Amino acid sequence: AIWIGTAVAGGGHHDSQDYPPPFTDDATYRELLGREFTSLSAENQMKWDFLRPDRETFRFDEADAIMDFAAEHGQVVRGHTLLWHNQNPEWLEQGGFSADELRALLKEHIETVVGRYAGRIHQWDVANEIFDDDARLREEQNIWIRELGIGIVADAFRWARAADPQAQLFFNDYNVDGINPKSDAYYALIQELLADGVPVDGFSTQGHLSTRYGFPGDLADNLQRFADLGLRTAVTELDVRMDLPDGAEPTPEQLEKQAEYYRRVTEAALSVEGCESLTLWGFVDTYSWVPVTFEGQGAATVMWEDYTRKPAYHAVRDAL
Ligand code: XIL
Repeated sequence: AIWIGTAVAGGGHHDSQDYPPPFTDDATYRELLGREFTSLSAENQMKWDFLRPDRETFRFDEADAIMDFAAEHGQVVRGHTLLWHNQNPEWLEQGGFSADELRALLKEHIETVVGRYAGRIHQWDVANEIFDDDARLREEQNIWIRELGIGIVADAFRWARAADPQAQLFFNDYNVDGINPKSDAYYALIQELLADGVPVDGFSTQGHLSTRYGFPGDLADNLQRFADLGLRTAVTELDVRMDLPDGAEPTPEQLEKQAEYYRRVTEAALSVEGCESLTLWGFVDTYSWVPVTFEGQGAATVMWEDYTRKPAYHAVRDAL
């Protein structure tokens, strides 16, 4: 079986938008969240900057609420994320911590967060986006790798395994849908880590696609080569944005192309054994990160703002 997921909106770019918090205050949103999906991801609510307002405090209210909602609705949860270069709190990035202190901070964080939800998380994105688009390790941008070296990534997986032996532990990134230098970098690194006995269980591609670019036709082949290493795979953040200059409405052609991309991703995921999770990065345009992040682009999800279904919605449903 494949779990079909969505990100649960909240935190991040939502904080600067002038609508009430969707998860608690939009009844239609909540109903669809419970009805249409079998897996949930925290869009921001399990990230460092959200969980850790200061060094002493863990703020679990919203992450807990997602876990409770999932349990009530028989859904699994993907944890996102433990080691990343983005959305780290200021106190951490600017704290002037020594290498030993940083190591202890990450260990404590993983033990506390992963431990809290032990047995209840399907997959954890342990390490997120550690390579850049030139397939180079983010040695400057990623505080953990910069201060502690690549070995910290292996440690993060080991600490996560110890804190929750049941969760599948993943590397997650974008622009690794197809076979390219960046996914090659993961392929090489993961082989090394596995040879060293590091508990890596999975490799996932986020799947932030754009109709501006061609479809990554070798998506299934790419996932398959990781499956052949004995790993699980997943698509974790699927959306398909399009160019909408000056607030233009999507054309029927754009919507058809978008539907085709959604369908092809679904088919690829279904075709790869051990690819058991396909998550959309939100399901309604209202709360999508895309127009906020990519100027002049949007309409990236499967539902219009009034929750009517786009061709892409039907494309996913029909492919399943
Ligand atoms: C995005 C969220 O959707 C936004 O709300 C937030 O402001 C920024 O982060 N890759 C990831 C996700 O791994 O965590 C990012 O989510 C999108 C890109």
